[in-house]
Amino acid sequence: MSAEKNHVRIAVVNGPNLNLLGRREPGIYGSTTLEQCLEGLRTRYPEVEFAEFQSNIEGELVTRLQQAAAEGYDGIVLNAAAYTHTSVALHDAIRAIDIPVVEVHISNVAAREPFRHVSLIAAACAGSISGFGLDSYRLAVEALLAMKKDA
Ligand code: DQA
Repeated sequence: MSAEKNHVRIAVVNGPNLNLLGRREPGIYGSTTLEQCLEGLRTRYPEVEFAEFQSNIEGELVTRLQQAAAEGYDGIVLNAAAYTHTSVALHDAIRAIDIPVVEVHISNVAAREPFRHVSLIAAACAGSISGFGLDSYRLAVEALLAMKKDA
């Protein structure tokens, strides 16, 4: 929980290849960059303090999840990208922390290759949002804000 009652802090954590957002397979992921996506969230939710982290390295994502919880963030929006489908370490990290994590995907992973139909992190997350383009991030923020209100 954050120190101030009405102050919400959300960490947006992105996995491998999402640093290339805007240039990477734009037919699937669009032409907006990660920075622009974050800017959009900051503009839309001036009352929320967003921290942004991206890494191509699995262990760094694990460490960031642990840190966000230790630093008292209210929740995490996590696009684990390809590690979604492979990472027991991220599953365990999400279970190990006491703040909600919302799984996010830009594309509709259920409508893509079979190897993307499996999420090793979904069961550890508060919920999953997939297929709404970059709006998936906004929807995840909405979910975290609603959870915070209900708490
Ligand atoms: C993704 C979907 C994953 O399957 C893929 O590996 C990604 C991005 C998405 O946001 O749609 O890198 O998480």
